[in-house]
Amino acid sequence: MDTEMSPCSSFSIYFLFFLFSSLNIRHCVATDNISLGQSLSGNQTIVSKEGNFELGFFAPGYSRNYYIGIWYKKVPVQTVIWVANRATPIFNTSSAVFRISEDGQLGLLNRYKILVWSSNSTPSTSDSTVAVLLDTGNLVIRNGSSTTIWQSFDHPTDTVMPEELLGVNKITGEYQSVTSWKNPENPAPGPFALRMDPDGSNQFVLLWNGSEIYWTSGIWNGQYFPISPGTVESSLIKITFVDNEQWKYVMYTILDSSFISRIVIDSSGLVGQWYWLNSTQKWQPFFIEPLARCDVYSLCGAFGICDQKSSNTCRCAYGFEPASMKEWEFNVWNSGCVRKTGLRCSDKSSAGGEDDRFLEMTNMRLPDNPQNLAVGSAEECEEACLNNCACNAYAYVSGCLIWTGDLRNLQQLYDGDRGAGTLHLRLAASDFPASSSSHRLVKNLTPSVIGGILVIFCVLFGLIWVSQRRKRARMAKQVEGSLIQFAYRDLQRVTKNFSEKLGGGGFGSVFKGTLIDSTEVAVKKLEGLRQGEKQFRTEVSTLAAIQHVNVVRLRGLCSEGRKRLLVYEYMSRGSLDSHLFPNNPTVLDWRMRYQTILGIARGLSYLHEKCRECIIHCDLKPDNILLDGDFCAKVADFGMAKLIGRDFSRVLTTMRGTIGYLAPEWISGLPITSKVDVYSFGMMLFELISGKRNTTHSADGGEIFYPSWAATRVIEGDIFSLLDHRLNGAADIEELTKVCRVACWCIQDSETQRPTMGQVVQILEGVLEVSMPPVPKALQLLTGDQSQIGNHLPSTEYKDPLDQSQDFPQLSVKL
Ligand SMILES: *[C@@H]1O[C@H](CO)[C@@H](O)[C@H](O)[C@H]1NC(C)=O
Ligand SMILES: *[C@@H]1O[C@H](CO)[C@@H](O)[C@H](O)[C@H]1NC(C)=O
Ligand SMILES: *[C@@H]1O[C@H](CO)[C@@H](O)[C@H](O)[C@H]1NC(C)=O
Ligand SMILES: *[C@@H]1O[C@H](CO)[C@@H](O)[C@H](O)[C@H]1NC(C)=O
Ligand SMILES: *[C@@H]1O[C@H](CO)[C@@H](O)[C@H](O)[C@H]1NC(C)=O
Ligand SMILES: *[C@@H]1O[C@H](CO)[C@@H](O)[C@H](O)[C@H]1NC(C)=O
Repeated sequence: MDTEMSPCSSFSIYFLFFLFSSLNIRHCVATDNISLGQSLSGNQTIVSKEGNFELGFFAPGYSRNYYIGIWYKKVPVQTVIWVANRATPIFNTSSAVFRISEDGQLGLLNRYKILVWSSNSTPSTSDSTVAVLLDTGNLVIRNGSSTTIWQSFDHPTDTVMPEELLGVNKITGEYQSVTSWKNPENPAPGPFALRMDPDGSNQFVLLWNGSEIYWTSGIWNGQYFPISPGTVESSLIKITFVDNEQWKYVMYTILDSSFISRIVIDSSGLVGQWYWLNSTQKWQPFFIEPLARCDVYSLCGAFGICDQKSSNTCRCAYGFEPASMKEWEFNVWNSGCVRKTGLRCSDKSSAGGEDDRFLEMTNMRLPDNPQNLAVGSAEECEEACLNNCACNAYAYVSGCLIWTGDLRNLQQLYDGDRGAGTLHLRLAASDFPASSSSHRLVKNLTPSVIGGILVIFCVLFGLIWVSQRRKRARMAKQVEGSLIQFAYRDLQRVTKNFSEKLGGGGFGSVFKGTLIDSTEVAVKKLEGLRQGEKQFRTEVSTLAAIQHVNVVRLRGLCSEGRKRLLVYEYMSRGSLDSHLFPNNPTVLDWRMRYQTILGIARGLSYLHEKCRECIIHCDLKPDNILLDGDFCAKVADFGMAKLIGRDFSRVLTTMRGTIGYLAPEWISGLPITSKVDVYSFGMMLFELISGKRNTTHSADGGEIFYPSWAATRVIEGDIFSLLDHRLNGAADIEELTKVCRVACWCIQDSETQRPTMGQVVQILEGVLEVSMPPVPKALQLLTGDQSQIGNHLPSTEYKDPLDQSQDFPQLSVKL
């Protein structure tokens, strides 16, 4: 009998084995290892023996890129602690293969059978080579049962696990370091890293771009690192520091094995130790460093400004815009900002046009690494910068400092802060909103000057618009396809059959839901839609392209039969009205209100002026402004006019009684423009100032319409009487004046008198100044009975100092 198998039959046995083992993985008890001939594809995973960790393909957030990763099996929020192919995603998991090769290396093959990731470990030809996922979260390749050839703990990504060594191999000189993800949807290495001090001292440092140290743990004192003494007091965590001939490393051990903890460096450069809290089902921080976020090197990237007091943390310098809106939306800012308009620089010969100019920025932390120039005056310093094409800014502080290249670590400081200086930022002349002639608030402008300014404005906006269109088209491509299509049944499951209602209104009801990856969403069931499916999808995908920090992000849609649903990001703090009006015990302070106002203005300005198609909101009111966990205001329910059609407004007027926010042109039946939103915004400002609904009922049942009274107060300069009394006068008088005046301008009867949202943003940012507004007359008419109003208002002489109609802007550049 011939006992030798032919190559062919051995192949088929091998193949059967292969098939059997993959079936095993999919349907039966999960295994904890991949041995020779086995592989993972699609949704197959391996699970460590005690079921602590799982390894398989995952796609972070809403991305469609797949990675091999390890995550906690017992934590319901998918938390990835290690990624294999962090910079080389694959796009189709069913045809990709994660396997151990004949020479004992782990490898990931894409659908073209190209190796996109390999463990690059020492080859081992033993048949018993196996990759095992351990209950510590460590993936090891073993030669037989004992020798460890390779382990994922030696190649950490952004997480340091208990029992994992972080340090340096003194013999090979190799450091283990953890590097942040680029952003929450992209595990590729970002700019921030945590590692042992390269200078050889016994401390850990945080580094930007492998060179700039922005935080140190303090030198090991034999028991703990000085910066985190809290951890040593904990009876749960033991820290071991080893410094011998071969190694210098730190390791932490969790003494209670039911306690789940990890140290991670996040995409915004912060390092933190987190533990899983069963009772809240959330990760809680033990510590997060650095405490002052603006200390993170280049947190806001090139030309970004860090503001410790702002809920947004980062903003772009004036004349700049985010290089990647998508990253900024994740609150990952280090991609920084780019110029809206290129500098003219020394290219004087090529075309006419004005020289570049300098924007004065006060109270700034000056950037690092200036060059010192030996010139005698501020003028010469400016001249020197202007003559150097690479120069982006100068400052004259007992000497001339200039900066070439990218400006990093700009920080907004406040009066009295140490190290505050005045920086002069170079901008293209066209980025200045108007000509240099108007340096201060100009009152009584002659009609020709007004006309001139208007023309310049138009030209400027035109220029900016054209120059940004290309960039935006590019950006829009990035976000297309980010919209998730849901089946109705999925959304039923996600919202637990629409059980948790968040709110409702004229367009339908909103329900809370939780996606499989534990992301919370708000699902809106639209009502009264008569559009066909195709048109609906087209309109929704244009809305999906809208991404701005101050606009609620649309995540997905569902369109089945007559059912139309939209899925939005969930805003944990709910709507603005619930925080503003007296039934809420906690009072929004002035700073938060100002930030909210600025946020709303930016969001609207983006919708009106910066999207490919102008989007008019049409139903702006505090109920449609949502606040996220950081109290960042976002405009919600935008684009409903696109989806539902303009004439819905009449429905609203009768159905919801939001008449307090409707511009006169709605009522008179005139065609509407984005200025209807400006009007509603103005009305909303009064509510933000006063903390009261504009229309309130007096004790005897009469209606008081607050803005008409407020407008006259503004003109009389008695603005503190308008302020929410719960604030006890705690408001910045300059800001309050600005907001009051803007509010009055926004509610002017004629739309040409109202500013654009872009101008409002510039006023609030302090780039433009705003003059005294006239009293809008239609206000009185709107409320109907004049005598009624008179009865409830404090007696004031009605005066109208600027009776002649004049168009906005009554403003000038503040330089
Ligand atoms: C691999 O997993 C299988 C199935 O769970 C198990 O029988 C086998 O002992 C494991 N091999 C190793 C080397 O751990
Ligand atoms: C895994 O994928 C297969 C085929 O794509 C599918 O039938 C199966 O339900 C999936 N299993 C899990 C647990 O998702
Ligand atoms: C992924 O690969 C499988 C098998 O090769 C193929 O059937 C499927 O269509 C692919 N999916 C996508 C989205 O390309
Ligand atoms: C693996 O084990 C075999 C024998 O068991 C040995 O010959 C080989 O050198 C080992 N390889 C490694 C990398 O340890
Ligand atoms: C980051 O470091 C690399 C290499 O050290 C250097 O070439 C590059 O210019 C640095 N990037 C920035 C933005 O400074
Ligand atoms: C948390 O819950 C898990 C599963 O319910 C349990 O095994 C674990 O012991 C709990 N951990 C703590 C610290 O209570």
